[in-house]
Amino acid sequence: MQMASGSAFQLDSVNPMPSILSELDAVARAVFEALGYPANIAAVRESDRGDAPYQCNGAMAAAGIAKKRGEKVNPREIAAQAVEKMQAHPAMGQLEIAGPGFINITPASALLTDRANELLSNPASGLAVDTPQTIVIDYGGANVAKPMHVGHLRSAVLGEAIKRILRAQGHNVIGDVHMGDWGLQMGHLISELAEEQPTLSYFDEDYQGDYPSESPVTMEDLARLYPAASNKAKSDTDRMEASRIATAQLQSGRRGYRALLDHFINVSVAALKVGYGNLGVEFDLWKGEACVDPLIPDMIAELKAAGVSEEDEGALIINVDDNWDPKTRKGTPPVMLLARTGAVLYHTTDLATLVDRKAEIDPDKIVYVVDQRQALHFEQVFRGAAKAGWYERDQLFHAGFGTMNGKDGKPFKTREGGVLRLEDLMEIMQDAARERLKTSGIGADFDVEERTEIARKIGLAALKFADLQNQRMTNYIFDPERFTAFEGKTGPYLLYAVVRIKSILRKAAAMGVDTGEITVEADTEKQLVLSLDAYGRAIELAADKYVPHVLCEHIYRVAQSFSRFYADCPILADDVAPVVQSSRLALAKATLLQLEHGLDLLAIEAPDRM
Ligand code: ARG
Repeated sequence: MQMASGSAFQLDSVNPMPSILSELDAVARAVFEALGYPANIAAVRESDRGDAPYQCNGAMAAAGIAKKRGEKVNPREIAAQAVEKMQAHPAMGQLEIAGPGFINITPASALLTDRANELLSNPASGLAVDTPQTIVIDYGGANVAKPMHVGHLRSAVLGEAIKRILRAQGHNVIGDVHMGDWGLQMGHLISELAEEQPTLSYFDEDYQGDYPSESPVTMEDLARLYPAASNKAKSDTDRMEASRIATAQLQSGRRGYRALLDHFINVSVAALKVGYGNLGVEFDLWKGEACVDPLIPDMIAELKAAGVSEEDEGALIINVDDNWDPKTRKGTPPVMLLARTGAVLYHTTDLATLVDRKAEIDPDKIVYVVDQRQALHFEQVFRGAAKAGWYERDQLFHAGFGTMNGKDGKPFKTREGGVLRLEDLMEIMQDAARERLKTSGIGADFDVEERTEIARKIGLAALKFADLQNQRMTNYIFDPERFTAFEGKTGPYLLYAVVRIKSILRKAAAMGVDTGEITVEADTEKQLVLSLDAYGRAIELAADKYVPHVLCEHIYRVAQSFSRFYADCPILADDVAPVVQSSRLALAKATLLQLEHGLDLLAIEAPDRM
């Protein structure tokens, strides 16, 4: 929207028109400033009462300020002065003073119309931040050879959404899977393979030649070797010792074991790429704990030399809390850099990863999307990194999350009680989706292939939306039936909204009706545009606190506003005038564009029809 020429209003926004709310907000601020009050007291916000969509409460604060200055004015008077000036601005529609001096604001229809047309031409309008940052998202976190569990699923789904949301704001975001590939599980794999195939060159300490480039194991082998070893080690201390020794030798650089590790990692990465890919999750970096191990000796030397670390009963630690009391265990316990045995620990690899990221990327921020149960670990690591002077404490953020539980309230497991495999989970969801399609008669006339693809998309959307719509810290219960329902706040409901608009657009095309300029008239149209306008704010909030549920809530509201609009404003009926048809069709399309844009940020894909 263009400001009236010669207007006395100075707007400080850089975007041509970030949102209706920001436009109104800028006007209110300029007016309060012109009246001699600080601009910030005039902030316009969404109204919590039904009288008008927005409100400005600046008059009350202004009256307080006036009183301190010794003037005697009541807030209603100030509101009346402000309204008089605001009214002169073309962005303002209906203004009214309520109660002690609240200003209720209804924007001008022209403003709604302009905004709607802008969103039609660019659904990402108003999302960009002024100063983009470089941000690393550490998520996924699968462990090599160990099966993925629901924590890894949540990390992948939440992390992917957070990454995409930040990217939509224009940040340079780098997703790193940070695989767990440096612990005892590697020793288990090596020692178990040594039992199975002792003649492999990797186990011959005198072997000097090159090792084969072909892996001696497949993913299936790894999936078999790890549980075999870890089960034996539970009851057999000698077997456990063999795994420990293999781990220690690997970590101290034994050539054959290093070569095996590379094979294990390559085989796992290939499998993980498929698994994450099926989930719509993509990483920019496939780094892990093992790849930062070479940085550890120098890092430790630096920490020692700087006096950041200290010896403690044979271990090397960093004290990160002056009030830490080992007796009562109150406060934040120290970082463990080296165990008494000299072994490196989870703290150590995470600190080395911070060193690596500083050197390679130098990010403004790093966000760890990891189970809330690791909160203390990250607090310790972050404090350690700040004490070392590598990062400011507030550059590092742990975006923790709760668990997905079974009906028993415990972290979800398979029916057999074993750890869950991602493939199994997706299959459960797809079965539930297929069942839904059958009972609701959707897609009955489509061929098998298309129906399978639809069920896949519904299953995924159901699972992801169910996960993302919760405030991330809360635990929730895995309930495939509820997740796949077409009614209520579910993924399938949103897919249905998308598909419905797509089908309206197809039908319009077949009838020769095209989209045109949007002119916002009916109340339900206004409501829809106001809903669409809140997109940027939802993204901002979701990005600032790393809470995708805010975006979920927004998308759901838009879908509901669309339903009300469509019920009230038929588009293709013959008694609707052609310009009105084109306008309504265009508004439907603007809605579709935003729904698709938003769902894409959640990594949710909709079918073309269903
Ligand atoms: N592999 C770890 C686990 O399974 C998660 C890794 C999280 N990221 C990190 N930088 N520590 O618990």
